[in-house]
Amino acid sequence: MVANWKMNNTLGQSVVLAQEISNRFNSGYEDKVDVVICPPYIGIKPVKTVFDFDKCKISLGAQNVFYEKSGAYTGEISVEMLSELGCMYCIVGHSERREYFGETNNDVNRKAKALISGKIKPIICVGESLYVRENADPQAFVLAQIDAAFAGMDAFEAKECCIAYEPVWAIGTGRTATPEVAGEMCRSIRVKIAELFGDDIASNMRILYGGSVNVGNIDALIAQEDIDGALIGNASLQADSFASLFKACL
Ligand code: PGA
Repeated sequence: MVANWKMNNTLGQSVVLAQEISNRFNSGYEDKVDVVICPPYIGIKPVKTVFDFDKCKISLGAQNVFYEKSGAYTGEISVEMLSELGCMYCIVGHSERREYFGETNNDVNRKAKALISGKIKPIICVGESLYVRENADPQAFVLAQIDAAFAGMDAFEAKECCIAYEPVWAIGTGRTATPEVAGEMCRSIRVKIAELFGDDIASNMRILYGGSVNVGNIDALIAQEDIDGALIGNASLQADSFASLFKACL
């Protein structure tokens, strides 16, 4: 279960929320569900400090990274910098980054490869817009995003990745894909990964669903065979609702 806090929570608010989440994550859960929190960059270290102090086995992730190692890239953060903060995961290609910051499929591919070489697991986001869902072939669109994101990777690199299928029309809108629609797309993604890298890699890959996941729909989503977890925005900003989401996986 991955919490994407997006551009929410100041430093102080991040620490408070991390403490509330830590209080709800009992030691018995850690073998049953992998939980990842992705705060804004400035919250990563303080949130990790809270979890380390509590010996809470929740991992940290970032919401973005730049693929170059260092240099004159004002405003950017490198893989090594994230690694130094204790990040184990990083979201790449979120639809908000694609839409507002011009992130391309090629950027996603370069970022994913840079993360893997720095031993951070990319959470690669794919998903079609409402226009594509209503007027074109959403499956072909999403599988083309998968092809592009994994271009030039070998099986050893691919096995480090997770995928999040997030239909753009369902993000932050309160509109969720039905469990069947979400499950079917996740199935197609897994078949595609099997074609590219073999059955073993495909069956072990974590494929998440994201887009208005909440306490009311998590059970039906997670019951789908090819949905292994969720990438959660809004519902991850309150400790109680996020806790009921990760408890749904137990
Ligand atoms: P949402 O966001 O749960 O608020 O729809 C999901 C995401 O963007 O990852």
